Amino acid sequence: MNVLVVGGAGYIGSHCVRQLLAAGHNPVVLDNLVFGHRAALSPAIRLYEANLGDEAAVGKILKDEKIEVVMHFAAFAYVGESVSDPLKYYFNNVVATLHLLRAMLAAGVKKFIFSSTCATYGIPREMPIVESSPQAPINPYGQSKLDVENALKSLAHAHGLSFATFRYFNAAGAAEDGTIGEAHDPETHLIPLAIDAATGRRPALQIFGTDYPTPDGTCLRDYVHVDDLSRAHIAVFPKLETPGAALFYNLGTGRPTSVLEVIQAVEKVSGRKVPYTTAPRRAGDPPALYADSSKAVRELGWTVRFPGINEIVATAWAWHAARPAGYR
Ligand code: UFG
Repeated sequence: MNVLVVGGAGYIGSHCVRQLLAAGHNPVVLDNLVFGHRAALSPAIRLYEANLGDEAAVGKILKDEKIEVVMHFAAFAYVGESVSDPLKYYFNNVVATLHLLRAMLAAGVKKFIFSSTCATYGIPREMPIVESSPQAPINPYGQSKLDVENALKSLAHAHGLSFATFRYFNAAGAAEDGTIGEAHDPETHLIPLAIDAATGRRPALQIFGTDYPTPDGTCLRDYVHVDDLSRAHIAVFPKLETPGAALFYNLGTGRPTSVLEVIQAVEKVSGRKVPYTTAPRRAGDPPALYADSSKAVRELGWTVRFPGINEIVATAWAWHAARPAGYR
């Protein structure tokens, strides 16, 4: 398939580009490189440096490249920033996506894959989370993703757009060969910060909250390997052949892992201590989030190749060891 990967130079997008190539597809990338990295892409990949909200530019790429399916990974994804600057999130994550969708419909491209998030569930009442669990986001980031999910439903109904929305849990890890991986600036995610604390590149890790109602008092999350996430995006292709298909899938391993368990995994994999201090809870952190992904397993034949936190952290460690400064 000819695939336009929007945000394909970013963390999850760049891994998906690799998986598309490995599966024999033809990806081209649109990325404005605000958060993406040219170096995350093989030189053979065509990169269009443009904004996804630029309908004229997107329309031309869709036609020139004979695009059949669009994958959309580009979004601002800092929960805290979304609370302090919501307009940035609504404009970039919602308005720009609507422009992208309008350009697609104008060009007759009607297959779409969207990166959504477990943050659309807010603070769930029941665990593990299933796709039909109530969606009540507690921050503008999660709300912006839910707004797009709702727009997609309307477009499927009105225009026969077929789409799949993947609600990621905690994307983690890196390509097994250590050549691409997670490189956010600023970095806020637990695993890269714990690795940097272990290597001394950053000061001691702060554990945000040790008084949660969880077995060890720290938050539980569902860390899922970025290549496992990526492969689901390709497994869904046959389902998009049905016009108007409206598909929603959780993607996680279903295994809750605490902050302390992540620290232990980093220590085990690296053979170093992770210095840490305890700090108050971070605003907006639900105590526990983990997925029931059986729908993706059942309907897409999705398999998790990295089920354990140690294996996931090992790939992140290999990437950070190879490129301690990320893509810089
Ligand atoms: N944490 C720390 N110290 C840190 C960083 C994180 O204790 O320095 C803790 C957090 O409090 C949380 C866990 O580690 O309990 C994971 O935090 P991350 O920031 O790595 O990930 P989040 O669970 O906050 O965020 C992820 C995605 C978001 C998504 C969110 C949904 O990265 O895109 O899940 O809640 F919105």
